[in-house]
Amino acid sequence: MLFWEKPDWFDARRRREQLEDHVRRSRMARFGIRKMAAEAKHEAVREHFDRIAGKYDFMNSLLSLGIQHVWKRTAIRMLALKPGQRILDVCGGTGDLALGAAQQVGSSGQVVVYDINWAMLTTGRPKAVPRGLEDRIVWVQGDAERISFPDDYFDAAMVGFGIRNVTHLEQAFREMMRVLKPGGKLLCLEFSRPTNPLFRQVYDFYSFSVMPALGQLLAGSAQSYACLPETIRMFPLPEELAQRLREIGCERVIYRPMTNGIAVAHLGWKRR
Ligand SMILES: C[S@@+](CC[C@H](N)C(=O)[O-])C[C@H]1O[C@@H](n2cnc3c(N)ncnc32)[C@H](O)[C@@H]1O
Repeated sequence: MLFWEKPDWFDARRRREQLEDHVRRSRMARFGIRKMAAEAKHEAVREHFDRIAGKYDFMNSLLSLGIQHVWKRTAIRMLALKPGQRILDVCGGTGDLALGAAQQVGSSGQVVVYDINWAMLTTGRPKAVPRGLEDRIVWVQGDAERISFPDDYFDAAMVGFGIRNVTHLEQAFREMMRVLKPGGKLLCLEFSRPTNPLFRQVYDFYSFSVMPALGQLLAGSAQSYACLPETIRMFPLPEELAQRLREIGCERVIYRPMTNGIAVAHLGWKRR
């Protein structure tokens, strides 16, 4: 997709199309600008991450100019984890957030990376070894909409740059709330809309011209990297997401925009 053909930032009405009510009613879901039957989205997402798993970490660091590591570190700090805690990383992929959390919870703690895509998990798993964290991290394949852990089990549940890809996003959040202990913390780190309109134009140019070109050159797929900025432009804005989290029972929801709002970390608590 060329810069001048880029999809615009969605308005509030169209952003609501990404929410569960609309997906359930229409039985249609979006993955970027592609619209598909809701039940087909899983497969599209799986194929997408199968295609890019091997290059995922490298491309992320390159395309974000390394800033993604700062966002992830900041998000982990917001959780204020303690030694001995049990943490869930939903849509955990290659496990960056999990690795950060594993350092905080110490040898008595445990982190579960939970992701639907086997290729992403197996790409991430070796990263724990040189850091000496392999005993603290468990890699589990499963669907965020049906988390295979009991109620009230984790001290914190986090999702980083993954909730956009889930078909029924509130269902995934409800599942995260279910598996949290009372008083446990929910963290969502996601891309969003830059707040400064001028910066947004530069960001749009970068997203729709530079990113797909680099995707083609270095990862062999322009389409995979065009899909990323598309999904970002359709995702609820920070206050809209905060409201959804409150509606599913998350308390004291706060959020922190980073790098002019390119990334936003939401934090909330499960009622005691
Ligand atoms: C953009 S990656 C994010 C990976 C990692 N959290 C990070 O911050 O680098 C999104 C991940 O969400 C996973 N995913 C998408 N839909 C999912 C679902 N329904 N259940 C579990 N994982 C899912 C994908 O397989 C992929 O690994």
